[in-house]
Amino acid sequence: MTRDIKTVGVIGAGQMGSGIAHVCSLAGLEVFLSDINEDRIHAGLATINGNMARQVAKEAITDSERQAALGRIQPALSSEDLADCDLVIEAATENEQVKRKIFKDVCTSLKPDAILATNTSSISITRLAASTDRPEHFIGIHFMNPVPVMQLVELIRGIATEDQTFEAAKAFIGKLGKTATVAEDFPAFIVNRILLPMINEAIYTLYEGVGSVEAIDTAMRLGANHPMGPLQLADFIGLDTCLSIMQVLHDGLADTKYRPCPLLVKYVEAGWLGRKAKRGFYDYRGEKPVPTR
Ligand SMILES: NC(=O)c1ccc[n+]([C@@H]2O[C@H](COP(=O)([O-])OP(=O)(O)OC[C@H]3O[C@@H](n4cnc5c(N)ncnc54)[C@H](O)[C@@H]3O)[C@@H](O)[C@H]2O)c1
Repeated sequence: MTRDIKTVGVIGAGQMGSGIAHVCSLAGLEVFLSDINEDRIHAGLATINGNMARQVAKEAITDSERQAALGRIQPALSSEDLADCDLVIEAATENEQVKRKIFKDVCTSLKPDAILATNTSSISITRLAASTDRPEHFIGIHFMNPVPVMQLVELIRGIATEDQTFEAAKAFIGKLGKTATVAEDFPAFIVNRILLPMINEAIYTLYEGVGSVEAIDTAMRLGANHPMGPLQLADFIGLDTCLSIMQVLHDGLADTKYRPCPLLVKYVEAGWLGRKAKRGFYDYRGEKPVPTR
């Protein structure tokens, strides 16, 4: 029988974690949201509130649904607060050491049959699972950004993931009204295996002076019918996350075609991480985004 998921823990209250908490609470699930400190959790809650208010303004949800959903999200100040969760989704920074440390810490508090999932964009599910006490109850549940808007979720089994875990994760995605697609456990799975080399190539195109930020984004929006230009999209994803995914592809597949563009490395070193840092390929500090090159 498929385990029913009613209570969800979300670790990391950044762009993705807040989005995951948002959709879970609107679907009627109880949510515990954690981060490295209370301020970050409250920043995540403020983002959720703002995004739900926008949905109310667009009449996608009612104000009482917004209030009820917000009432279902509680801050989790330590891993003990996640003890009642049926499913815990890790959505912290894309760094293997950070994620391993989180799993080591959280596993001691979880129910024995609780499912542990990661929202990693690229890191091996099998390797992350092996660092936990429950590889059979471990799975990749990869949401897309922004979570409330994007329909797709990739499900990735590790080598030890049990069918029951997979079925429970699939039913959970269904409950959120989203569509699951299955990817094998290879670096960056399906969407980012295809998307990130395109973004990296767009950054090489900028680096080599083939076009300006504006020219490249306009070219791909109007010439390939992409809803967003690749540099705008890179800023949206976060340039640190983009670099990290390219490094995982480069290391994991050992092919020079995945070499991260030096200009991407430079932006990350400058702390110009995209929208979340208010500066990346565009400067977001003014009223309208202005290209930085
Ligand atoms: N940004 C995207 O488009 C996107 C899409 C799909 C998946 N992802 C994946 O989701 C994850 C999070 O990405 P994001 O864009 O939300 O990043 P983000 O930088 O917006 O948020 C990461 C959050 O994790 C928190 N964090 C760091 N260490 C922690 C710890 N030890 N315990 C608890 N919280 C911790 C940070 O304080 C931060 O609030 C990454 O694995 C990323 O690859 C990102």
